[in-house]
Amino acid sequence: VPLEETSIPLFYGWFLVPAVQEKVRCTSMDFLKTLDTLEAFKKHLTDFTGEAEKEVDLEQYFSANSGLHCTTKYCDYGKAEGAKEYAEQTVVKEQYCSASELSLNALFVTPRTVGARVSLTENQLTLWPSDAEKEAESLVPTAASLPAGSRAHVTLGCADGVEPVQTGYDLLEILALQQEGLTGELVEEMELGSLAYFGKGRWLLSLREPISAKACFSSYYG
Ligand code: A2P
Repeated sequence: VPLEETSIPLFYGWFLVPAVQEKVRCTSMDFLKTLDTLEAFKKHLTDFTGEAEKEVDLEQYFSANSGLHCTTKYCDYGKAEGAKEYAEQTVVKEQYCSASELSLNALFVTPRTVGARVSLTENQLTLWPSDAEKEAESLVPTAASLPAGSRAHVTLGCADGVEPVQTGYDLLEILALQQEGLTGELVEEMELGSLAYFGKGRWLLSLREPISAKACFSSYYG
């Protein structure tokens, strides 16, 4: 196997610097801790438990993700479609190992995942694969009509048996509903921001103050 074929990573992305990972994790834990005590959440508890009477501890419900990052391109060591083309792009090579400031402007929770929405700058969008949203079409039919970068997120945690790739699909699903004109049922103003419910256990917290997260564009080999 030629070297260039073995040197393609598992994925490319922005990796949050350690101090910021800590901050984001704390914010996420604060949110989960508060969310599962809200009457509005308890009202929709069956979305998570399947049973009306059961309680849920969201901090336990999700296994926290380590190595917080925002994936740009999942390459699977070159096996994923478009992986080689992505790795060969000048912009990818030029920006490799460069520092960047990610803006996390919302947190979302579903019965499957918890994540942070990332709002990409024009410059960061140059590293975003053009088909990232379209790729989710089989799961989120209108995904391709959402603006480029809509799928950008940091996976904070997954429920038992759920793969992190699900987080991006969950985010796209919420954004697709918003695009259809649904604002979600405004549930409450929390200290962190306003909380909206989109049905089927989908919660979106729009942060009052976006978290600015220092990150490094790089890749992960596993
Ligand atoms: P995410 O970006 O939501 O965290 P895994 O450990 O499952 O191999 O995944 C490694 C990373 O690549 C994770 O960050 C994961 O999701 C992301 N990822 C996995 N599969 C895909 C895919 N098909 N498309 C986009 N990203 C993926």
